Amino acid sequence: MSYKLLFVCLGNICRSPSAENIMNYLVDRADLNSAIICDSAGTSSYHIGSPPDSRMSFAAKQRGITLKGRSRQFHKSDFENFDLILAMDRDNYRNILYLDREGIYEDKVKLMCDFASDRQVKEVPDPYYGGSEGFDNVIDLLLDACDGLLQEIVKKQKLMVKE
Ligand code: 4NP
Repeated sequence: MSYKLLFVCLGNICRSPSAENIMNYLVDRADLNSAIICDSAGTSSYHIGSPPDSRMSFAAKQRGITLKGRSRQFHKSDFENFDLILAMDRDNYRNILYLDREGIYEDKVKLMCDFASDRQVKEVPDPYYGGSEGFDNVIDLLLDACDGLLQEIVKKQKLMVKE
């Protein structure tokens, strides 16, 4: 059985597709494709069906990562279908848990920055209305947090990593 991760932001065109594709890149490098599966979603319906934002894709491409996928909205059924749900910021976190009225799935929902090596950083900032440095910052933060997340999963799930 694979361990299933869902990355969530507001629009699912900037931060969460970046997290999904960066994580896939790291998972691929560690030869863990059959053990870890990644997907992403947005709490809003604003961009359903859209590809990742071109500014975000450009920033990712600079680091050798191609952003794939189309925006979809987070759905209640995702609580059942995923083992871990990673919210990019506190608003996303709140909006996800708003759909879990009975509080059954709270343990599955974490902030992405809980896995960042810089303990001061609590959120992946929304880059949508800013300049290119905001998009570069998202990639830097996510490369670091995804690495921390992968190490945690490898440890907890007792996975074997390719050296
Ligand atoms: P994301 O960025 O949540 O990282 O995909 C945004 C995308 C779109 C909007 C806001 C943030 N928007 O307001 O349309």
